[in-house]
Amino acid sequence: MRRKLAAGNWKMNGTPAMLAGVGALDADAGCEVLLCPPATLIAQMTDHAKGRITVGGQDCHPLAGGAHTGDIAASMLKDAGATYVILGHSERRADHGETNATVSAKTLAAWDAGLTAIVCIGETLETREAGRTLDLIGTQLAGSVPDGATAAGLVIAYEPVWAIGTGKVPTLEQIAEVHDFIRAALETRFGAEGTGTRVLYGGSVKPSNAAGIFAVPNVDGALVGGASLAAEDFNGIIGALAKA
Ligand code: PGA
Repeated sequence: MRRKLAAGNWKMNGTPAMLAGVGALDADAGCEVLLCPPATLIAQMTDHAKGRITVGGQDCHPLAGGAHTGDIAASMLKDAGATYVILGHSERRADHGETNATVSAKTLAAWDAGLTAIVCIGETLETREAGRTLDLIGTQLAGSVPDGATAAGLVIAYEPVWAIGTGKVPTLEQIAEVHDFIRAALETRFGAEGTGTRVLYGGSVKPSNAAGIFAVPNVDGALVGGASLAAEDFNGIIGALAKA
């Protein structure tokens, strides 16, 4: 069975003072709890986590090392205490021009370092209104996930770009349609490993809407931005997931 995952993405937020909240997270609720802080805080957060929650990075370079100023190799995240890395978030696709091929190369690097890759995909509002959501999701999934994926090494995060940080969420029917589509595509390509791969929903998940979203079939948890910054909010989401 797929272990439910509540994953927090702190994005470009986070100070050492905020690490105090890590101890307040409800790590024993019955689902896996992951926080992905900025790289500067991974080592300190790993110490605070004391193994109760898992820690991840927000990006890695596709290469193992070398002359790439400002970049971080997957093995460095691992050394700092990370076991996961978020890859291909829509903000990185937009801010840094990351393509599906870039994300695929980074995923291979993450696997080489022994990290689980959380590969993000999702449509813009324009794509949704044009009725091309599933086409795009299929293309992103095929292009961003390399061959050889395993349930242990891969998590998919479905994050509609128009729902991220906006307070807007798709209907539960829309979430169900995309998650069913992703599950079928993973099973077609990876068989039982695809059945075991967790598929998260992301985009304006809050304590108030989490239970409804987690009741949707093939939603195995959430990737949470804003509501992961305060332990009280994130605990509301963790609690809803544990009960789902
Ligand atoms: P949000 O961000 O929860 O603030 O909408 C989600 C994400 O970008 O992962």
